[in-house]
Amino acid sequence: METNQSLRLFIVCFLLHSLTSSSSLSTKNITTDKNALLALKTRITHDSATLLAKNWSTSTSVCNWIGVSCGVRHQRVTALNISYLGLTGTIPPQLGNLSFLALLAINDNNFYGSLPYELARLRRLKYINFNYNQLSGNVPSSIFNISSLQELRLKHNRLSSMVNVSGGGPSLMSLDLSENMFEGEIPPFISECKQLRFLNLSSNNFRGGIPKEIGNLTKLKTLSIFLNKLEGEIPQELGNLVELERLLLLDNVMLTGQIPSLLFNISTLWQINFTNNSLIGDLPHNMCSHHRKAAVLKGLQLSFNQITGTIPYNLWQCRELTVVSLSYNQFRGRIPSDIGNLTMVKKLALGGNNLIGRYL
Ligand SMILES: *[C@@H]1O[C@H](CO)[C@@H](O)[C@H](O)[C@H]1NC(C)=O
Ligand SMILES: *[C@@H]1O[C@H](CO)[C@@H](O)[C@H](O)[C@H]1NC(C)=O
Ligand SMILES: *[C@@H]1O[C@H](CO)[C@@H](O)[C@H](O)[C@H]1NC(C)=O
Ligand SMILES: *[C@@H]1O[C@H](CO)[C@@H](O)[C@H](O)[C@H]1NC(C)=O
Ligand SMILES: *[C@@H]1O[C@H](CO)[C@@H](O)[C@H](O)[C@H]1NC(C)=O
Ligand SMILES: *[C@@H]1O[C@H](CO)[C@@H](O)[C@H](O)[C@H]1NC(C)=O
Ligand SMILES: *[C@@H]1O[C@H](CO)[C@@H](O)[C@H](O)[C@H]1NC(C)=O
Ligand SMILES: *[C@@H]1O[C@H](CO)[C@@H](O)[C@H](O)[C@H]1NC(C)=O
Ligand SMILES: *[C@@H]1O[C@H](CO)[C@@H](O)[C@H](O)[C@H]1NC(C)=O
Ligand SMILES: *[C@@H]1O[C@H](CO)[C@@H](O)[C@H](O)[C@H]1NC(C)=O
Ligand SMILES: *[C@@H]1O[C@H](CO)[C@@H](O)[C@H](O)[C@H]1NC(C)=O
Ligand SMILES: *[C@@H]1O[C@H](CO)[C@@H](O)[C@H](O)[C@H]1NC(C)=O
Repeated sequence: METNQSLRLFIVCFLLHSLTSSSSLSTKNITTDKNALLALKTRITHDSATLLAKNWSTSTSVCNWIGVSCGVRHQRVTALNISYLGLTGTIPPQLGNLSFLALLAINDNNFYGSLPYELARLRRLKYINFNYNQLSGNVPSSIFNISSLQELRLKHNRLSSMVNVSGGGPSLMSLDLSENMFEGEIPPFISECKQLRFLNLSSNNFRGGIPKEIGNLTKLKTLSIFLNKLEGEIPQELGNLVELERLLLLDNVMLTGQIPSLLFNISTLWQINFTNNSLIGDLPHNMCSHHRKAAVLKGLQLSFNQITGTIPYNLWQCRELTVVSLSYNQFRGRIPSDIGNLTMVKKLALGGNNLIGRYL
């Protein structure tokens, strides 16, 4: 009896909830979308081809406007792609009213100012591209709360912070924050974006250590954090990234410690670029051993470090190697003679070491 009552109560609450949420949706229609896009149009201060000025005309349906696509079912705007149009302007908060938007591509223009918080209201967004603009300030943490968001591209702007991000985007597969002005530590929420395949934080001012929790992102294929101010050691936990293909940590001149030997157990890893760090210690001698399921390593770029010891004698077993840069380290001893069996090698740089023996 009591369970029946609470069930009934639950159903009533559920119905009320659905009614209120659907009625709040129904207050928006294609006119809302039109107003949002007109708000964007008024924010455009320079439109070199006067494209929007002419084409985004109130006398035609928004669904015929250049860069705008509508869904068949709801007749609402589902995609806005105004990339490469030479537009200068700012992003209005009204864009947050395009409630059916799944794709937002504003890349390769000259938009400046900040990203409005209201974008987080776009609960159907899958893809955001603001690459190559002049956006500055804070990335609203609410953007990472969009549970449908799969790809967020913010490359080459002037963004400097991400405050109070709690919880990582549950669907986020690709995050590009490279070529901005981000400072401070790599934010912890990134390690909670469990679906990440691609992460690019290169060319910023990130400081501190590489969070060991990044090793939890087991679907990661590309990890690119070069040209920052990272310090400390490369965490052992990166060895858990069993699908990793590219690991680019170059130009973090304070990154030190030994290269974790576990990295060489990742059977998919084909590029290691640690050029111009401060890595020390010997290279693991079994790094190319036949224990590795598949030695697919193509690029091993370790120049400008302080790596010691001899060149691993079984390097020739990484048969796919095409680029081997070990110059400007502290390698000593003989150049392994079987290195000549690396038939794919196009570049072999060994200068600036203490090697002995004849040239190959
Ligand atoms: C959109 O909704 C408003 C009320 O919110 C209404 O006045 C208008 O006629 C609607 N427009 C369309 C195209 O349905
Ligand atoms: C706007 O551009 C689209 C796509 O190029 C075109 O189909 C449409 O006719 C144009 N509308 C006007 C009013 O120029
Ligand atoms: C946006 O449009 C441009 C051409 O105008 C096209 O090259 C690009 O692929 C489109 N972007 C997306 C995400 O569809
Ligand atoms: C759209 O967005 C603006 C600013 O975020 C807001 O003031 C307005 O009420 C919203 N709704 C409609 C239906 O335009
Ligand atoms: C993100 O979503 C959670 C749960 O829905 C909420 O508690 C939190 O306040 C949201 N954060 C932001 C920045 O919107
Ligand atoms: C971020 O959180 C801190 C501490 O909870 C708070 O003082 C600060 O005002 C918040 N900043 C923003 C922009 O919400
Ligand atoms: C990451 O971003 C940098 C800077 O834009 C770029 O040069 C690099 O190729 C990117 N890395 C990957 C793996 O795409
Ligand atoms: C993430 O990684 C840390 C340290 O490597 C580990 O202690 C923690 O249990 C992991 N968390 C999840 C949710 O996998
Ligand atoms: C190493 O990186 C630093 C900082 O980015 C840069 O100034 C320096 O020129 C680089 N050195 C080499 C040898 O590439
Ligand atoms: C690396 O992989 C091999 C073969 O799968 C395994 O025998 C070895 O224990 C692994 N090494 C580490 C440190 O996990
Ligand atoms: C990797 O390192 C080499 C130096 O060995 C450098 O010339 C190259 O541009 C780097 N590759 C990437 C993808 O940054
Ligand atoms: C390398 O090649 C030489 C001659 O081509 C051969 O004698 C030698 O056994 C090879 N070494 C290995 C380890 O395969």
